[in-house]
Amino acid sequence: MQLPGLIDPHVHLREPGATHKEDWDSGTAAALAGGFTAVLAMPNTRPPVTDGGTLGQALDAARRKARCDYAQYLGAGADNVELLPQLAEQAAGLKMYLDQTYGPLRLDDMSIWMAHFKHWPRNMPIVAHAERRSLAAVILMAALFDRPVHLAHVSLREEILLIRKAKEKGWKVTCEVTPHHLFLTQEDVPALGPGRSEVRPRLATAADQAALWENLEVIDCFATDHAPHTLAEKDGEDPPPGYPGLETALALFFTAVQEGRLTLEDLLARMVTNPRRIFHLPEQPETWIEVEPQASWEINAAQTYTRCGWTPFEGRKVHGRVRRVVLRGREAYRDGLVLAPPGFGRNLRG
Ligand code: NCD
Ligand code: ZN
Ligand code: ZN
Repeated sequence: MQLPGLIDPHVHLREPGATHKEDWDSGTAAALAGGFTAVLAMPNTRPPVTDGGTLGQALDAARRKARCDYAQYLGAGADNVELLPQLAEQAAGLKMYLDQTYGPLRLDDMSIWMAHFKHWPRNMPIVAHAERRSLAAVILMAALFDRPVHLAHVSLREEILLIRKAKEKGWKVTCEVTPHHLFLTQEDVPALGPGRSEVRPRLATAADQAALWENLEVIDCFATDHAPHTLAEKDGEDPPPGYPGLETALALFFTAVQEGRLTLEDLLARMVTNPRRIFHLPEQPETWIEVEPQASWEINAAQTYTRCGWTPFEGRKVHGRVRRVVLRGREAYRDGLVLAPPGFGRNLRG
């Protein structure tokens, strides 16, 4: 079965600064193996991407090493409000961290949020990590400034119901949900173990998970939030939050299609057409993936390209396997082998 190349608007590729977890090479190899031909990379690297110098550093690594197409987010900080607009055209969008998560980019003071909403170009995306009351606050702010906001990794019933209400009002909010919040709950924490289960937002209750599925029409995108940390880090002291996701997402959703939980059209809207529209991404010419829908396999970290060395879905049986990826006319992946070389990826904002 031939499908369009998938787009993931939320990945962490860890370069610069933490290439032992992932880099532009390994992360985009994982993307291709998972059927993604375009990824948008988050700015919570070391150093974080918050100005022209660090954006240049990330894009230089990407230009040399990316195997699939990409764009890089800028991170909103307390003292970069005025310098960001001139970089906006080169960036995937502006990322605002409004709650505590991995990395140093949290913004607490709402006057700084307001300053970013005022200055960042209205036609360029803003993505917010905003949980619970912060989510309500940032939806209000987007309405006050009459501009769109995209809400990352929505996980709770109260959040998806609030987004539904905002959309009913005609407010310009869009959102994404991760595979782990759709396919795992708090009940999986004991089996995962305390360190490996750490993720932001945390795994939620079965009722929260059910509410996400019941409100599928409110969910614009499925985004992996591919957030690789090594097994040693996850099993060590002070485990960092985050799960890898690029190489398991399509099979999880494909299996759900075969179980009748959503349609293939639902899947393609959330993994191709909606992310392309929301983030103003160009079509990728001569680009498609070939999926064998009936192929059943067991998820196994040993067979992945991500450098992190584990998956929260270890041992899960799924249906649907990526056989081949063609990116801009070139065979980029075939039967377990990534064929596109480092540097083949193009900057979608280039
Ligand atoms: C992300 C990371 O590791 O960068 N971790 C996570 O648990 N999701 C940060 C984030 O997306 O909030
Ligand atoms: Zn986040
Ligand atoms: Zn993230």
